[in-house]
Amino acid sequence: MKTDKKVKVLVVFFSHTGENYAVGNNTKGNTHIVAEMIAEATGGRLFEIVPEKAYPETYQECVEVAKQEKERNARPAVRGDIAAEEYDVVFLGYPNWWSDMPMAVYTFLEKHDWSGKTLLPFCTHEGSGLSGMERKIADACKGATVGRGLALRGATAQNKRDEARKAVRSWLERSDL
Ligand SMILES: Cc1cc2nc3c(=O)[nH]c(=O)nc-3n(C[C@H](O)[C@H](O)[C@H](O)COP(=O)(O)O)c2cc1C
Repeated sequence: MKTDKKVKVLVVFFSHTGENYAVGNNTKGNTHIVAEMIAEATGGRLFEIVPEKAYPETYQECVEVAKQEKERNARPAVRGDIAAEEYDVVFLGYPNWWSDMPMAVYTFLEKHDWSGKTLLPFCTHEGSGLSGMERKIADACKGATVGRGLALRGATAQNKRDEARKAVRSWLERSDL
């Protein structure tokens, strides 16, 4: 990533804390950890998408709620907001849920005007990678340029932080901003 002081960077993310596949119980979600690494490397501002109604802490219950929301194409309400329009480059992070983004991420995206922005997706997952999400993000964020995303194993983010940081840095270097 080229460092241009005039470029304003925002790192928006959704992450689930509690019990999760492959990592057990955690106090900071996998995507949250990656988001902090990106914010640290870019000097960007962090913003967490927090649903008004928290997802269940236990993995199986969360999986079920997420499945139902995806089937309904729900838009769960989210808390607070940030003036994303004021930023030039927006990193968008989320866990892969059912080969999609959590529906609360769509709620956030649909509140904003993304024209002229560069959007860089990053996701944590346990095998499905980005699941072609760049296209879905481009559809939800009309007028934005969506760059090549980063997919990282959640367990790597949680338990092998040096490895994760290395992957983040090399992705940022390859992102031609
Ligand atoms: C509701 C739910 C659905 C998931 N669906 C998938 C999936 O379809 N593919 C996959 O690779 N991982 C899936 N996972 C695993 C998460 O993507 C992975 O654990 C991720 O790192 C969680 O990030 P977080 O801690 O930031 O929430 C799912 C996890 C949950 C809780």
